[in-house]
Parts: sequence; C-alpha cells; structure tokens
Amino acid sequence: MSSDSTAKPKMPEPCCFVIFGVTGDLAHRLVTPALYNLAEAGLLPDGFCVVGVTRTEMQSQNLHRDLMKGLHQYATRPVDDTVARRLFDCVTSVHADPGDPASFDRLKDHLDAIARRGVGNMLFYLAVPPAAFKPICEALGRAGLLDEDAGSWRRLVIEKPFGTDLQSARELNRDLLKIVQEHQIYRIDHYLGKETVQNILVFRFANGMFEPIWNRNHIDHVQITVSEMIDVGRRGSFYDSTGAMRDMVPNHLFQLMSLVAMEPPSRFDAHSVRTEKSEALASIQTQTPDEALRNSVRGQYVAGRVGDRQIGDYRNTPEVDPLSNTETYAAMKLTIDNWRWAGVPFYLRTGKALSAKRTEVAIRFKQAPFSMFRGTEVERLSRNYLVIGIEPTEGITLQFNTKMPGPTVAIDGVEMKFKYKDYFKVAPSTGYETLIYDCMIGDNILFQRADSVEAGWQAVQPFIEAWRGAEGQGLALYRAGTDGPREAHELIERDGRHWRRIDGE
Ligand code: BG6
Repeated sequence: MSSDSTAKPKMPEPCCFVIFGVTGDLAHRLVTPALYNLAEAGLLPDGFCVVGVTRTEMQSQNLHRDLMKGLHQYATRPVDDTVARRLFDCVTSVHADPGDPASFDRLKDHLDAIARRGVGNMLFYLAVPPAAFKPICEALGRAGLLDEDAGSWRRLVIEKPFGTDLQSARELNRDLLKIVQEHQIYRIDHYLGKETVQNILVFRFANGMFEPIWNRNHIDHVQITVSEMIDVGRRGSFYDSTGAMRDMVPNHLFQLMSLVAMEPPSRFDAHSVRTEKSEALASIQTQTPDEALRNSVRGQYVAGRVGDRQIGDYRNTPEVDPLSNTETYAAMKLTIDNWRWAGVPFYLRTGKALSAKRTEVAIRFKQAPFSMFRGTEVERLSRNYLVIGIEPTEGITLQFNTKMPGPTVAIDGVEMKFKYKDYFKVAPSTGYETLIYDCMIGDNILFQRADSVEAGWQAVQPFIEAWRGAEGQGLALYRAGTDGPREAHELIERDGRHWRRIDGE
C-alpha cells in the first residue's frame, strides 16, 4: 500500500512463492486467482516462480492442470490463457511433510537449485489449517530455509485464525518468534485487502474536515456490522469449535474498529500505523465477567428462509454437535479508555444466515442540542450518520437534515452518497492482490503485528470466558433470514439507541 499517488507501482524483486496447502480451497479460490491478476497487471517480477508443496507425491504437470482448472473456476476476470500459461509454466511441485524431516531437506535442495538460478528471495505462504502453522515453521527453520542473508529475504505469510484465545495466540507468537523475526512474519487479515477498508485511513487522515469532530464531543456512538447471508454450510467442524466471536471479531471487526479509533500516526509507514492501531485495541476497556455478559449477546440460527434458500437449524449442520452451544451471531458493546473516545460506545455485531450481506461502519453524530424549528422536536430530526460502506455498496454516505421545499419549514433527512464505482473503474479482484504484492515488496503496513493480534484477543477474552462460564445459558436463538436475535436489539435499545437496518439501502 504505497503512499505515493503519482508513482508507478514498484516492481518486486525476483522471488519464489512457496505455497503450503497448494491443493486446498484457499489456494484455489483466492491465492491463484490473485497471482493471476497480478500477472495480468504486470506486477510479478522477472524470475518469479511458484513452488507448490504437497502432502502426497504429485507431478508438476498434474499440479499445473489442477491450478489451471481452479483458476477457470474462481477467476475474478476473464482468463487470458497466454498469461495463465506463463504463470503456471513456472510452477513446480515438491512433496514435503513437517513430520518427515528428510522431506524438508528435499524441499531445501529444490529451493537451493532455484536460488542458484538467481532467485534467492523466498515467500512461504501457509495456506493450511492453523494446527500446521507451527510444525511447518519449525521444519522450515530446521532446514535453514528461514535464515536471511545479506542478499536475500525470507518471509512467512500466515492466514487466520491466529490462535484461538489470548494464551494460544501468545504461545504461537512466542514459538514463531523463536524461529523468525517479526519483520519476516506477515499475518494476513483479508479485510485489510479490501479497498474500502484501506480507504478508512485515507478518508480520516487525508481530509482535514473530519478530524476535528472525530471524538467524544461530537460522536454519539459507532456501529460496526458484518452480516452475512451464508450459513455454516460445509465448514461445520471448523465452525463449531470456533463460533462467530473468534471467527470474526478479534480480526475482521477489530480491523475496522482500530482504523476508526486509532490516533493519527505521525507518518504513513508500517511502524507508525501499526503502533497506533495496536494502541487503539489495547485501550479497549477490559470487562468483568458480569459486564461482559450484560454487554454481549450470542445467538444461534434455527431453520428459516434466507433469500430463496431454505436453511436448516445450525445444530443439524454436518459435523456440528446436535447439542452445540456455539454462537453463529455475536453482538457486543465496547468502550475505549482514552480521551478521544471515553463514553462513546462501539456496538459490534456479526452473524451468519441473516437477511442481508452488509459490512459497514456507521458513525452516529450527536443530535443538534435543541430544535429551533417550531413543531420539530430534536428527537424527530433525522439522525446524522456517516456510513462507510464496505459491502454491498462500496462508498461513503453522509446523512443530514434538510428543508423540504415549500412555504413552511418542514424538515426531512437526506443523504450525500459517494460510490466507488461512480468514480473509479476497478477490475474485480479477490482482495488478496494487494496483500501478496505488499509481501513481495516487503511492505507490512496491511498485516497484523504480534502485539495487535494479542490486543485483539485480550479484548474478547472476557467475553469468551464469561460465555464459557455461562455454558448454554443466554444463547439466543434467531430464525435464519432475520436480522438476528431480539436480545441484540435490546442490547442497544437499553441505551436509547437503535441498530441500523441491515437490509436497507
Ligand atoms: C472469514 C471467516 O475470515 O471471513 C468466514 O472465516 C466469513 O466465516 C468471511 O464468512 C467473511 O469475509 P467477507 O470478505 O465475505 O466479509
């Protein structure tokens, strides 16, 4: 994410992209289409090559065929076969398993041969389940593959979830940092690959007019919503041991929250930006178990209709415990302990099998202190929201009151809307292009640093513990295709506020 709007994108140095889990879903659905889009944009360096690491023996030409098939299935743009063939021509496969050290020696021989051809920079992309992060990293470390020397870099890209709670995230950080240095680790949160999420930084800090009102004096509260229509589907086994809170809150929702809440960094560089984001998360007030229970709602969907699909009870999902108390919906109220935000609640909600797909940050400004317009009470004025839309509409909307035409002063709420697509022509992408490109050029501004991952877990830990202590009690059921449990409305209405609709414009 370069800060120079005039410069041409920098060309990465020659490097080898080593993918663990190359035959898996993530590699096919997101990583390969993103590499293709980068190839099409001319942003892969000369000498770029891909090594797919497989758990079982696989011929390179079979891997080519497999990846090409996946690309045609998941590409975000029409595939130009010449570009695709050029990309896949550089793919080779190696069979390696962290349980078998000799196999990593074989991987090392393979990569050494590539290095002798002048491509000594290696990017190890771990598109694998979290349990495999540490063993792979250790095996790479033992084989000496993570050692950087003056002439070449070694980087490790790790997908979420990073840990399952504060303790496990700390342990994983500790274990990894015994093998590699922090600057070599790129912890991915795909929300940071979204243009509109990156734009929160630009919107706040490249415009002078919002900063003076971006604080407790003018902001009543903030709502962060990530609602999804999809159900748990075939992810039952992963999801039932994870739940909505762990799956979405300490990572995706907190990325949004930290970008809204952070202090202006003194520079647009990875250290300054990540320090301010981490500081914002570390300032989230720690709640006691009672407060955590009072300030949160966990829900689980039961059968209902979402769009034109009938969805069954969550508990009937394959590989889900039929008595499961895992939440498919989470809502919470958080506060931030600092001078900018003291007393301004942040309401967060996320859930599956809801009536609409919507990702947005809504900043509600305080009402005018009194209404001087006869016959219009302050309460009846339309609310002043600034809405940063991420899905389905990418853009920014400002809602305010205006006079309706006519001889009397009648007031109505209106909107000023900026939509990305009205101004910019953006080729459809996976969201991974920027992230992969940034890894190759060594810019880690859009990646999570160890301290911010831990700060995120620290903030949700009281909720996880309080929910565990309360077992199944307090699990609110909601019908699939609705906007979530009634209790989530009560959570915010208790404070005299309301959620925005998830299915409106
Ligand atoms: C993933 C979660 O990280 O994010 C999924 O594991 C979720 O459960 C997805 O569906 C949501 O991402 P997006 O980009 O569709 O909002």
